[in-house]
Amino acid sequence: MNELDLNSDAMKEVAEQQSAFTQTLEQTEDLKALEALRVSTLGRKGWVKKAFDLVKKVPGEQRKAVAQHLNEMKSSVEAALDQAEVRIATQAIEKQVESEWIDWTMPSTMDTQGALHPLTIIERNCIKVLQQLGFEVVEGPEVETPFHNFDALNIPEHHPARDMQDTFWLQDNFLLRSHTSTVQIRALEAAKAEGRDLPLKIVAPGRVYRNETVDATHLACFHQFEGLWVDHDVTFSELKAVLEFTVREIFGDAWELRFKPKFYPYTEPSIGIDIRLKDQDGQGAGKWLTILGAGMVHEHVFENTGFDPKTTKGFAFGLGVSRIVAMAYGVESMRSLYESDLRVHQRLSVLGNA
Ligand code: DAH
Repeated sequence: MNELDLNSDAMKEVAEQQSAFTQTLEQTEDLKALEALRVSTLGRKGWVKKAFDLVKKVPGEQRKAVAQHLNEMKSSVEAALDQAEVRIATQAIEKQVESEWIDWTMPSTMDTQGALHPLTIIERNCIKVLQQLGFEVVEGPEVETPFHNFDALNIPEHHPARDMQDTFWLQDNFLLRSHTSTVQIRALEAAKAEGRDLPLKIVAPGRVYRNETVDATHLACFHQFEGLWVDHDVTFSELKAVLEFTVREIFGDAWELRFKPKFYPYTEPSIGIDIRLKDQDGQGAGKWLTILGAGMVHEHVFENTGFDPKTTKGFAFGLGVSRIVAMAYGVESMRSLYESDLRVHQRLSVLGNA
């Protein structure tokens, strides 16, 4: 029997198996085949394992050298397998990228265009109408203080109006504004601070938040629109004229309109405007829907913002934009306005100029 040492036939055979392995590895193109090769090499019945079985048969003085040689071979086989895995995975990705490549610069085959959200369309429409009357667009923060949302608007603590508008409270006594009437206070404060001359005529569109159970007509977040006109001698008849003009401009003649008495703590007297669709004969039909609250600014509001109620008069109004959009677009559930439902966007508006 041949002496088992590094130059023995058995070890030559191991070397041949290694070079056969290297060749097979170079030709391996997929991970499954690679795994099979790994098993037939390093597995329990693999040739590397068998090569190590030889060590026992090596005489003492040669054993260390043979064992070291085999250990090095095993490490290089393992490293080669790992490298091949990276190579195959990279090739697979490159192949995929090549076959799925898209030229983003090619013209699109779709002929549909993006469009403004109905809420934006109606909001801009309202703004346009009021800008014709000299109103300036301003914005207020959505995170507010109880002073701007309640106290300054003559809604003291324990006032039922505070319950009516269930509020989302935040940390440090901040809240999410429950109406855009907050902007009345901010605009009056700013006018006072900057010493601006009257008249003050502002419109303030934006989101408001109520802690309500969501259903078809109640949402936790929706859009409103505030208006405020303050001067030394503004009267109720001007309020009526401005609102009538505005509602007519927005809704056109297809709708019947009525004023009704209402109560708001920050206006005195207070009114609401309802509208309903007319039928073909021009007669009112359908349900009355309140779209707007308004009134002559309460003297406490002027006092709370540093104005003299004897020489300062004004009117304010708040419009529910979401409700108007739902009506205009014939959307039964206001919620769908906030759900990116394309059917809402594609619906033709029943409002003349929307
Ligand atoms: N803030 C009221 C609401 O959220 C709407 C409103 C009513 C606004 C009367 C006003 C007003 O400016 O004068 O329902």
